[in-house]
This record gives sequence, structure tokens and C-alpha cells, in this order.
Amino acid sequence: MYSLSSRSPAHPTGISSRDAYAVSAEFYDVLQGEADAAQVRELYGTAVGSARHGVLDIGAGTGRVTLLGLAESEVGVHAVEPARSMRSALMTRLASLPAEVRGRVTVHPCSLDEARLRGVADIAVCHNTLACLDPSSRRRLYPAVAAALSPGGLLLLHLPPARLPRTPTVRPLPPQRLGRHEYGGHMVLSAEAGRIRTRFDYWVRDGTDVVREHTETFWMWPASRDDVAEELAEHGFTPVPDAGDPAVLTVRRE
Ligand SMILES: C[S@@+](CC[C@H](N)C(=O)[O-])C[C@H]1O[C@@H](n2cnc3c(N)ncnc32)[C@H](O)[C@@H]1O
Repeated sequence: MYSLSSRSPAHPTGISSRDAYAVSAEFYDVLQGEADAAQVRELYGTAVGSARHGVLDIGAGTGRVTLLGLAESEVGVHAVEPARSMRSALMTRLASLPAEVRGRVTVHPCSLDEARLRGVADIAVCHNTLACLDPSSRRRLYPAVAAALSPGGLLLLHLPPARLPRTPTVRPLPPQRLGRHEYGGHMVLSAEAGRIRTRFDYWVRDGTDVVREHTETFWMWPASRDDVAEELAEHGFTPVPDAGDPAVLTVRRE
């Protein structure tokens, strides 16, 4: 039985972490899925392919890293995803897999610390998730990863932005066509009281007509590579020299 937390610190309205991403889940894969799939393969494909015991996907979302784990390894995969809407997309994706592949993946419908996993994996990936954790949730995550990894296991951690944006920054989400409709949007990042307010604006257009528009806002918390490495060291993780992407910190559990 899982005990589920009630509030999402990453959501400015304080809604439940189970109900976060209610708007974004619909747009997540169509607007970001293709680029994300290429990025996770590039960042984690080799490590995930080296897994001998298990792969842990922390903040699985709609399942990019989970799918990579199933494709690149032959071990069990644990997908941890507290938000119902993101997990629905993940479950639909997993349901379409052959039974023998599906038989290797376990979905945990809660945060990592609530899942209480013990020694289930030798490779853990936390992609695009640490930034969404406030400092106290971030600190709760580290001992939970240490417990979930077997000794000598690796954690590959996609780092949060190192600092607050100086001025509001707009990042477009390249439009995608589905039948008559074009889906698009952008994210707007701005600094607010030591956090990064991250607003996602989505639109659906039919020619020049706007069919619908939606917005969802999240908080993110900046943290430097050195700060994260120091926090992890307190939980027995040591950095692994890595010539890979500077956006990822790789650490080994004692
Ligand atoms: C920005 S999404 C990224 C999803 C996925 N990793 C990707 O890149 O497509 C962050 C995800 O982390 C989940 N999450 C938030 N806090 C978490 C925690 N403490 N443990 C596990 N997952 C968490 C959220 O529900 C959300 O789906």
C-alpha cells in the first residue's frame, strides 16, 4: 500500500502532486516527445544499456526513460510517477507493448520517497525532474535513491538551472500538425522570490482560428552542480568523472 502526499510544492496553486500536469499531459508528447526521446537516448542510452540488475526512472512522466530502459536493457524497470495525468499517458504507452516486455516494468504511483524501494536497480535516471523539487523535497529524494540503488549503482541526474533567469525568457515549443489542427505553445521562465516561475502556454489552431488555449504554471528551483554534488555526498554518493553532457551529473552510490 502506498501512502500518497497531498500537495505539490512545484505547483503554485498548491494542488495535489497527483493532480499536477493535468493540462500539460495532453500536450507533453505531441510538443516535446520527439525531441525528448532523442535527448534521453543520447544522455542515458549507454548507461541504461549497461544495467545488469534494474533500471529506475525517477519522475517517469509519459515514459521516455522507462521505454529506453525496456528497449536497451533486459532487466526490470521501475517507473516512479506520482501525477495521475502523466501516469495515464505512461500506462497507455506501456499497455501497447508486448506482454513479455510489459512484464518487466513496475509503475509506482507516488513520489520516490513514498515508494520505499530497496536495492531494485543499478542504474537510476532522474531526467528533467530535480528542478521541479523544492529544496526539502530534493533532500528527501537523495536517501530514497540511495536506498533504491544497489551498492556501486549509478545515478544520472539531469541538473536544474544553475541560477535564476535575469529577465523573463520565452522558449517556443515548435508547432506540430495533427490532421486539420496545429498544436503549439511556449514556456515563459521568470524569477520570483528565489524560484523560477515556469508558465506553459498551449494553443490549438485550425488555420488562423484559435480552437483553444490553455496555461499551466509550475515552480522550479535553481541549484548549481556543486551544490547538488555536495548534497548527494551527504548520502554516500561520489561524482563519476564524465565527459558527457554538462547538464547531467553522474554519481555512484557507495
Ligand atoms: C517535468 S516532468 C518530467 C517527466 C519525464 N522525466 C520527462 O522528462 O519527460 C517531472 C515529473 O516528475 C514527477 N515528480 C515530481 N516529484 C517527484 C518525486 N518526488 N518522485 C518522483 N517523481 C516526481 C512529476 O509528477 C512529473 O511527471
